[in-house]
Amino acid sequence: MIDLLPLETLYEAAGGVEIPLPPELAARYGRLSFVRPPDGPYVISNFVTTLDGVVSLNIPGQSGGGEISGFNQHDRMVMGILRAVADAVVVGAGTLRAVPRHLWTAEFVYPPLAEAYRELRASTGRTEPPLNVIVTARGEIDLDLPVFRSPEVTPMIVTTRHGARRLREGSVPARAIVVSDDSDGAIDARQVIRAITSARPSQLILVEGGPSLLGDFLAVGCVDELFLTVAPQIAGRDQTGDRPGLVAGRSFAPEHAIWGTLIGIKRGESHLFLRYRFSR
Ligand SMILES: NC(=O)c1ccc[n+]([C@@H]2O[C@H](COP(=O)([O-])OP(=O)(O)OC[C@H]3O[C@@H](n4cnc5c(N)ncnc54)[C@H](OP(=O)(O)O)[C@@H]3O)[C@@H](O)[C@H]2O)c1
Repeated sequence: MIDLLPLETLYEAAGGVEIPLPPELAARYGRLSFVRPPDGPYVISNFVTTLDGVVSLNIPGQSGGGEISGFNQHDRMVMGILRAVADAVVVGAGTLRAVPRHLWTAEFVYPPLAEAYRELRASTGRTEPPLNVIVTARGEIDLDLPVFRSPEVTPMIVTTRHGARRLREGSVPARAIVVSDDSDGAIDARQVIRAITSARPSQLILVEGGPSLLGDFLAVGCVDELFLTVAPQIAGRDQTGDRPGLVAGRSFAPEHAIWGTLIGIKRGESHLFLRYRFSR
């Protein structure tokens, strides 16, 4: 048995279809349900932020989510649950560069609950780990990283024509599918979703960021829900302003402010686990 206290559920209004969690997860997380949209996959995102809105310290070797959450076990457990029920986990190339040895699976992010995650995944009818989708415009990514070489995941790169040319100069592993976009700039998030659903039938897509990718998904109304962990630290920023918040490269308010509806609050000691829904 692992030593992890249950999260305390303070508010729950997610509705929708309940996902039957194995006892080890249900005891620690509580209930989990998702609305099923009639058309296409449900897109959720998961981030951790400090009290002052910093999602990355932007220091080489210390720019992952772990430094933001304080390597919090509840945060890892929640990440694991969401990955376990996702058909695909999507990240931008910046996030891959920040945590280059990472695999976007439940077992990888929180090994103590690996068995329960496998049971959960199997109970939802998913026979393979989530597709690990990397979005890049430039295509300057190291194809020898574990995400492209490990037998534990199926990687997929969504890129532009320019990025695809660049990637083909290296040895693209046979399993990595390169889907080109016609433009040479930022890829429309709807095209990313189309690429995923044509590679694998998908009901739930998990966008794990980073801030640039999340901004692009929000900009075209492609995020149904945000799972946001608020870690009780204040990271601070100096004049360089190089510590991003949840969104980078896009501004929405005041003209196009994106307002969410609170649908869940859980507490694990001083960490808060919030759930917001957005209308498309
Ligand atoms: N706290 C958290 O929960 C959390 C979560 C995720 C990430 N992070 C942190 O955020 C930092 C990275 O921030 P970031 O904004 O650079 O992350 P990012 O969105 O992962 O990466 C940006 C890069 O991804 C590619 N990209 C993103 N959107 C694209 C689009 N629509 N079309 C084509 N390419 C696209 C581009 O890659 P190319 O340059 O290759 O073209 C772009 O330069 C890291 O420190 C990471 O650890 C924190």
